Formats: sequence, C-alpha cells, structure tokens
Amino acid sequence: MKILKAPAELQAFALSCKRSGKTIALVPTMGFLHAGHLALIDIARQKADVVIVSIFVNPTQFGPNEDLERYPRDFERDSKLCAERGTDLIFVPNPEDMYCSDASTFVEETKLSQPLCGASRPGHFRGVTTVVAKLFNLALPDYAVFGMKDAQQLLVIKRMVRDLFFPVEIIAAPLIREHSGLALSSRNAYLSADEKSRAVVLSRVLDAAGSALRANGIEVLPGVLESMKHEIKNAGGKIDYVEALDASTLESPTAKTVDLLIALAVYFGKTRLIDNTFVWVKS
Ligand code: PAJ
Repeated sequence: MKILKAPAELQAFALSCKRSGKTIALVPTMGFLHAGHLALIDIARQKADVVIVSIFVNPTQFGPNEDLERYPRDFERDSKLCAERGTDLIFVPNPEDMYCSDASTFVEETKLSQPLCGASRPGHFRGVTTVVAKLFNLALPDYAVFGMKDAQQLLVIKRMVRDLFFPVEIIAAPLIREHSGLALSSRNAYLSADEKSRAVVLSRVLDAAGSALRANGIEVLPGVLESMKHEIKNAGGKIDYVEALDASTLESPTAKTVDLLIALAVYFGKTRLIDNTFVWVKS
C-alpha cells in the first residue's frame, strides 16, 4: 500500500493508472476510521481496480468554534485498517499543501446546502464541496463512495457532480450502526459512557418515526416530529434540529413528496451527533 502526501504525486499516480486502463475508486474521509468507513472501502474495492482512501481533516469545513483542533486522529491505526481492506493508496496531505495561503477559489452549491446542517454550520458545505472537488481533480476517480450517514452531504456532492460535469459516478453506501442502533461516527469517541447510552434515543426515535409514517401517511408528520423532540429532550439531548424534508429537493414536504428525509442533529454534552432515515411515504 502506497502512502502519499503531495497532491502532485497523487495526480501523477492517478494519471498513470488511467493511462494503463485501470479504473479508480476514491473514498474521501477525515480519518479515525470505523466500520462505517471500512464498508465504503469494501464497496470501492468491488467497483474498481485501484482504491484510493484520502484522510484529511479539512479545515475549511469547520466553523471557528468547532472541533477542528480536537478532531480525533490516529494515522497508524487508520493505515493498518486500510491495508487490511485492500486499499492501494492512502492520500494524507498537509492542509498547507491542499490550500495555498492565498487561495481564492471555492466550490459552492447554493440550494441543497441551505437547510439542516447548512443552516447550523454556515460555510460547512462550501468547505466540503471545495475539498471534494480538489480530491476529484487529484485522484481522477471513476467512482467515489459516500455514506448515507451524511445524507445532506451526499445530495450536495451529487448535485455538484451533476452541475459541474465531474466525470465520476457517486455511489451511496448504507448507514452503518452499532448493535445499540447508534450511528457509527468518529465523533462518538468524544462521548462518555453515559452520553453514549443516552444517545441511543436518536436511532430509536428515527425508527419509530419511520414506522408511524409508513403506517399512517404523511398527515401524522407534525405529531411524529413533536414526539421525537420530546423523547430526545427526555433523554438529555439538546436539539439543534429535528426536521423532515422532501428527500430530493430538501424543501418542506408537499402533496407530491414520496420520499422523505428525516434528519436530526442533537448535542449530548459538547458532542454534536447527526442521524437520519429515509421514509417512502404513500400518498
Ligand atoms: P467523514 O466524517 O470521515 O466521513 C467519510 C465518509 O464516511 C462519508 O462519506 C460519511 O458519510 C461516511 N460515513 C461516516 N460514518 C458512517 C456510517 N456510520 N455509515 C456509513 N457511512 C459513514 O464526511 C466526511 O468525512 C467529510 O465531510 C469528507 C467527505 C471526507 C470531506 O472532507
């Protein structure tokens, strides 16, 4: 397994793969890998001849008061896990090599980035789309794998790829959970044992909401959202948002809505967790 730090070296490697007719799959990550990330690597491995995993805690997607400095990092462990899963190359750049000090070009999706995490983390998706566009230009992937854990991110990236004609196929990977139901996340490392057991409420209320909506239709949505909020507060969670939006437009659901995204962001202590579920609603 190769490990590269220099952007130009990754691009040269990708070009040489292309010239010899090999397909490339990219898995962008911020490291501190868990089974959710590894499932993306497995999908990439099935899809392409060459699997590239990027590990980069991207500064531009963190707000000024967010956890950039304390974001968990363990490159030794990550590289072992990548090797075990058959990764061909890890790209682990330095921030100053990804962003020139006078960089003045950014990639911004302006519609799907507005609600949910876009509203509570201004500038976050601009940082995500900018770094992912850079990674696409360096790794030249035929496929790029993203998890449904970050459902809004996935939609934003798909829109960017469509709008800017990136020659890459975006593959959506299912959300991986612990046995308890808690969605796997690198940020779970911040949780105390008590917070972690209380956070199980998130997947439980999403599950219950999905069942209620499938059984009774979208008319029961207001009551469903209220009871989700109530249960989360009872478990000690501080709500950032709990919302249901049309899964293709990320606008408020209408009579035409058939696929609903129920998404939430909730603090347990200082840790902000996100989770979501997609619900097919009959009209
Ligand atoms: P990160 O949070 O490290 O996630 C990397 C990828 O793993 C994302 O596509 C995310 O959706 C996926 N992932 C995380 N937890 C998952 C889970 N429990 N089940 C399935 N997939 C999961 O997302 C980012 O990094 C960054 O924003 C990035 C795209 C790398 C740009 O900096």
